[in-house]
Amino acid sequence: MPETESASSGSPRAAIVTGGARGIGRSVVERLIDADHHVLVIDVNEKGVASLADLERDRPGTVTAVLGSTLDRPLVEQAVGDLVARCGRLDAVVNNAGLTLPATFLDQTDDDWDRIVDSNLKGAFVVSQVAARHMVERGGGAFVHVSSVSAHGVRTGPPAYAAAKAGIEGLSRLMAVQLGEHGIRVNSVVVGTTATPWLLGRKSDDELDAMRATTLLGRLADPEDIAAAIAFLVSDDARHITGQLLSVSGGQWLA
Ligand SMILES: NC(=O)c1ccc[n+]([C@@H]2O[C@H](COP(=O)([O-])OP(=O)(O)OC[C@H]3O[C@@H](n4cnc5c(N)ncnc54)[C@H](O)[C@@H]3O)[C@@H](O)[C@H]2O)c1
Repeated sequence: MPETESASSGSPRAAIVTGGARGIGRSVVERLIDADHHVLVIDVNEKGVASLADLERDRPGTVTAVLGSTLDRPLVEQAVGDLVARCGRLDAVVNNAGLTLPATFLDQTDDDWDRIVDSNLKGAFVVSQVAARHMVERGGGAFVHVSSVSAHGVRTGPPAYAAAKAGIEGLSRLMAVQLGEHGIRVNSVVVGTTATPWLLGRKSDDELDAMRATTLLGRLADPEDIAAAIAFLVSDDARHITGQLLSVSGGQWLA
C-alpha cells in the first residue's frame, strides 16, 4: 500500500507542519526532518519563518517555510501544490497552528472567540481539505491534529480554546471515518502543559513547580515529547491506528 513506501524507496517523504516556526511545531519539524521528510511550514510568525530559512541553508532540501496564515486558502493551495510538485508525494500533515488569548467564560469577547476558533479549528479544516485532495489522488497519507487537555476540562482557560480543541477532535474523527477508504489515517494528540521557550520565559520557578504538580509524573512535557508522539503517529509503525486520541500529558488527563 502506498503509505508503506518508506524513505528507503529513495525519495524523501513530504510533510506539512502548520505553526512550525516555533514551540512544539518547531520540534515536530526537526523530528520529521530527522525521519527523512521534506517539511513545508506555514506560519504567520515572521521571525520564526526567517529562522527556518536559515535551517534550510544549513541543511539544504529539508524545509520550505512559507509566511502566511492557514486561513488563507489561496496561499495554502499554492504552497501545498508546490510541495507536491517538488516531492511528487504528500505523506503527512500536522495541524499544530493555533493561538489562545486569556479569558474566562464570563468575559470572553466575540472577537477573541473568532480569532481563537479560526486559528485552531478553521485553519486546520482548510489545510486538511487542500491536503486530503492530494492524498486521495495518491491513495494514502496521515494527519495528526494537535488538541489540548483544555478540551477535556483539565485546565482552565478561554472557552473558545476548549471549544476549538474539542472541535478539532471531532473533525479528526470525522476525517478518519470519511478518508479511511482512501488509505488515509487521522489521529489527534491531546497535549498537556508543555515547557516551550515561550512558557519558560514567562513563568516563575514557583509557577512552573505548581504546573508540574498537576501531572502524575511531576514534570512538564518538553516539546520533543510531543514531537516524538506525532512522529510515531505519522510513521508506518502506526499504520493500523486511525480515529484515535493519544494523550501526551504526563497523566494530566487523569490528575
Ligand atoms: N504549549 C502548551 O502547553 C500546549 C498545551 C496544549 C496544547 N498546545 C497546542 O500545541 C500547539 C502549539 O503550541 P505552542 O505552545 O508551540 O504555541 P506557539 O504559540 O509557540 O506556536 C504556535 C505557532 O502557530 C502559529 N500560528 C498561529 N495561528 C496561525 C495561523 N492561523 N496560521 C499560521 N500559523 C499560525 C504561530 O505564529 C506560532 O508560531 C497549539 O495548537 C496549542 O494549542 C500547547
